[in-house]
Amino acid sequence: MSDAVNPHQGAPDGQRTTSCATELACRDCGYRTPLLDTAFKCPACGEGLDVDYDYARASELIAERGLEGRPQNIWRFEELLPIVSRAAQQKVGQFAGRTPLIRADRLGAELGLRNLYLKDDSTNRPTLSYKDRVVSMAIARLLELGKNEVGCVSTGNVGTAVAALAAKAGATAYIFYPGNMEKGKAKACRALGAQVCQLDGNYDQANRACRELSLASGIEFANITLRPFYAEGAKTMAFEVVEELDWISPDHFVIPAAGGTLSSRVHKGLNELQAVGLAQTEGTKINIAQASGCGPIASAILDGGEIHPQTPETAAHSLAIGAPGDGALVLDAVRTRGGSAATASDPEIFEAIDLLGKTEGILTEPAGGTTIASTARLAAQGKIGPDDVVVAVISGNGLKTLQEHPDKPWPEMVSCDVETMGEMLEDFRQAAAAAPH
Ligand SMILES: Cc1ncc(COP(=O)(O)O)c(C=O)c1O
Ligand SMILES: [Zn+2]
Repeated sequence: MSDAVNPHQGAPDGQRTTSCATELACRDCGYRTPLLDTAFKCPACGEGLDVDYDYARASELIAERGLEGRPQNIWRFEELLPIVSRAAQQKVGQFAGRTPLIRADRLGAELGLRNLYLKDDSTNRPTLSYKDRVVSMAIARLLELGKNEVGCVSTGNVGTAVAALAAKAGATAYIFYPGNMEKGKAKACRALGAQVCQLDGNYDQANRACRELSLASGIEFANITLRPFYAEGAKTMAFEVVEELDWISPDHFVIPAAGGTLSSRVHKGLNELQAVGLAQTEGTKINIAQASGCGPIASAILDGGEIHPQTPETAAHSLAIGAPGDGALVLDAVRTRGGSAATASDPEIFEAIDLLGKTEGILTEPAGGTTIASTARLAAQGKIGPDDVVVAVISGNGLKTLQEHPDKPWPEMVSCDVETMGEMLEDFRQAAAAAPH
């Protein structure tokens, strides 16, 4: 397929992208450092560093270039992304993002929501979760730095994304999982050519140890040392949703949170759309979905206080982060925009997975079940109104976690003849008629 006919690829136009990123900036104390600095924490106060942009320039460039002919992938608004090397950008993420925004009338009817949409990142490429957005950005940065080894610490999906995107970029990947890892995801990493190491600890312990290992070994970690760049990838979800709604920002997002990167960066992305004049986004509220067995961000939002770390105890493994690194940013996002939070128990999460499956034909993992169960709760509590335009984020694919879902049995094998099968079909039809849908 040539570049000219591939809508996912933009025409190569030189060595530098049109990124308007200017510097890395401390969120707290105002420290600033050049974009090429490899620091990820502020040397003055220890806070995370964030990428800053020249928004006036981005606004000019977007107006000049228009929207026609832009790539249908995460690089679509490269002015607002941190990668400056065209060569690095073109090696990864060409098929990540631009996932469908699906109108969900059948699910909406169940939840009492007349304008419900699903942002279906369970179809993201290459590894079927939202993490393809952030990890593409991290691997592009790795290439920009001229490095070819990368590590990560993962609750599940970062691992598979790093394994796949590192393979595509020709880099070697080392994936560190906590003790409660989902086996299927670890197996996928091995199949994708990565090394996998399971650690005897929970995610938060693994994260701390990986930070030390990364500093001791000099190996970049996608979601630790490359974090300022990694996080920027999550903004692309906000850009896409608002464009998919014809530049009318929704009333509500409902976003599942673990470390809080996605929800805090959707907030940043919405602010940027307004800053560059593409959409009015200040009316959009952000609501957080978490498991009740690991809900430090939701608890802080609902109680009005700060974040108190929790020890995760949930089947939603991909959301099992008890000490969320971007938690304070999420509180800020929800408190400045308005919005709320809800939590769901493990049985509610699996019921919601089934409800989404049978109403919309989408098979999600527990993170997506958490979003749907939380959306239902927020609607039932009146925190989301029946006519509000709601975008619920389905961030991961159920095919990757199916072996962890509760079994739904089917009958024993029957003989292969029409009479027996006819009896079986009659039983099926009676069961279907007796079921609520
Ligand atoms: C499928 C899925 N959804 C949502 C999240 C939450 O991500 P964040 O850490 O950005 O809050 C994760 C993170 O691990 C995930 O794997
Ligand atoms: Zn600082």
